[in-house]
Amino acid sequence: MTVTATSEWQRWQTSWDRQQEWYMPDREERFRVMLDTVEAVAGPTPRVLDLACGTGSISDRLLRRLPGARTTCLDIDPTLLTIARGHFADDDRVTFVEADLTDPAWTGRLPHTSYDAVVTATALHWLDTEPLRRLYGALAGVLREGGVFLNADHMRDESAPRINAALASLNAVRQEQARGQGAVDWADWWDAASRDPLLADATAERFALLGDPRQPKSDGTPRDRPTLTGWHIETLREAGFGEARQVWCSASDALVAALR
Ligand SMILES: C[S@@+](CC[C@H](N)C(=O)[O-])C[C@H]1O[C@@H](n2cnc3c(N)ncnc32)[C@H](O)[C@@H]1O
Repeated sequence: MTVTATSEWQRWQTSWDRQQEWYMPDREERFRVMLDTVEAVAGPTPRVLDLACGTGSISDRLLRRLPGARTTCLDIDPTLLTIARGHFADDDRVTFVEADLTDPAWTGRLPHTSYDAVVTATALHWLDTEPLRRLYGALAGVLREGGVFLNADHMRDESAPRINAALASLNAVRQEQARGQGAVDWADWWDAASRDPLLADATAERFALLGDPRQPKSDGTPRDRPTLTGWHIETLREAGFGEARQVWCSASDALVAALR
């Protein structure tokens, strides 16, 4: 791979991170706690599944922190997988899988039958209650005994609504300021990707397969999506995890750890 290509993939990887951070300013803090838990439970050379990996940000932080780790990056999105493949080119610690997590046969595409850790962030809220319940059941089968699952996502603790509202207001002010300083949101990011010749083909495929993210997402039909942290903890226990608890939270997001 040429130096130019490497720096272009790095530029897209960084641009994805900045866009995601605009929504979640403490994203790196979540990743740190997530990887603390992976290291604490699985040691310095874990085999990790990065579920709905996007451009592979979590795997990137994992390999910087634990160079002896191995990771399988799984996603459905052709554009984000193209960036991830470019970013990790020539790194034989990384394997890629293109799969749809709502397909009951998705685990059959994995290169390994067992993992020490499964990590995921800002992704499973795409799934409705029943597909997510099934996914949690499948994950219990993918992890080895004693392995750990970590899900950082939009989850709420409704026991302290005034604290949540105050933090959400502060976040909204910060977002507004960052926008004024040129922060790029979801729609703008996809627009830029569709215009870059490096990503144009993959992005056309993405739009055909999954829709155009520049268009409004919802048709108004109410979704059946679990939003409470407690639902995730309880459902993970029902799925066969011996322990599950929150290990980090912000006003709107939580990180839940579950031990097989
Ligand atoms: C907001 S991104 C987060 C990506 C990455 N985890 C991060 O933190 O940067 C959500 C990801 O979930 C993936 N995703 C959504 N639905 C999926 C599905 N059914 N199967 C596989 N991946 C899916 C999307 O393609 C996208 O990469």
